[in-house]
Amino acid sequence: MRLVAWQPDDLLRRLDDVIAVYGEAMGYRPELLQTRRGYIGSHVRRPGFRAVATLTPEGKVAGFGYGYTSIAGQWWHDQVRAALDEPGRRQWLGDCFEVVELHVRPVAQGHGVGARQLRALLAMAKGSTVLLSTPEADEQASRAWRLYRRFGFTDVLRHFWFPGDERAFAILGRELPLASLPEEARS
Ligand SMILES: CC(C)(COP(=O)(O)OP(=O)(O)OC[C@H]1O[C@@H](n2cnc3c(N)ncnc32)[C@H](O)[C@@H]1OP(=O)(O)O)[C@@H](O)C(=O)NCCC(=O)NCCS
Repeated sequence: MRLVAWQPDDLLRRLDDVIAVYGEAMGYRPELLQTRRGYIGSHVRRPGFRAVATLTPEGKVAGFGYGYTSIAGQWWHDQVRAALDEPGRRQWLGDCFEVVELHVRPVAQGHGVGARQLRALLAMAKGSTVLLSTPEADEQASRAWRLYRRFGFTDVLRHFWFPGDERAFAILGRELPLASLPEEARS
């Protein structure tokens, strides 16, 4: 497996594969995937865009992750801003990188691919904080939650509802850079 940094056009070229990985990892319906396809295509032009991918020896996409600078006017940023108090906004949103997507094909999960992708993405990210949202789940039972906790992400908002989504989400964050990352997350 090979971890690579992607430029915006690299991701656009592999958009079908990216959507396939996303659909497999999240178990989403095809209709919802088409909507996400449009979003992802537009995200690559956002300021501070950074992306990574993991390729198999045959060149297939086994996983990917991307994010960008979180700024006012972006839907996600504005939802989170509205839910935070003023000190929270100052602490988290002033100079923030959002991890927007991080997924690994189920067949490739559990071998450190997700951790390597997250480490590489955060090493390239600009900003003094990083935020992400993830569905609320049993922290011990969820692979995503265990990964984020190992990377030192703490609670920023819990049981948060985005308009149009019936699931509750947690907003998790940590400071950048990653220098203070605990040893056990260095797989
Ligand atoms: C969350 C996700 C990105 C994590 O990616 P991953 O590749 O499965 O994660 P890792 O392999 O780095 O870590 C998973 C486990 O493998 C272990 N591991 C790490 N390196 C390893 C290695 N070389 N060999 C064996 N196991 C290893 C980790 O310790 C970790 O153990 P744990 O899950 O029991 O705590 C991935 O599981 C995924 O796409 N899930 C579905 C979609 C999703 O939830 N995305 C995030 C939405 S916000």
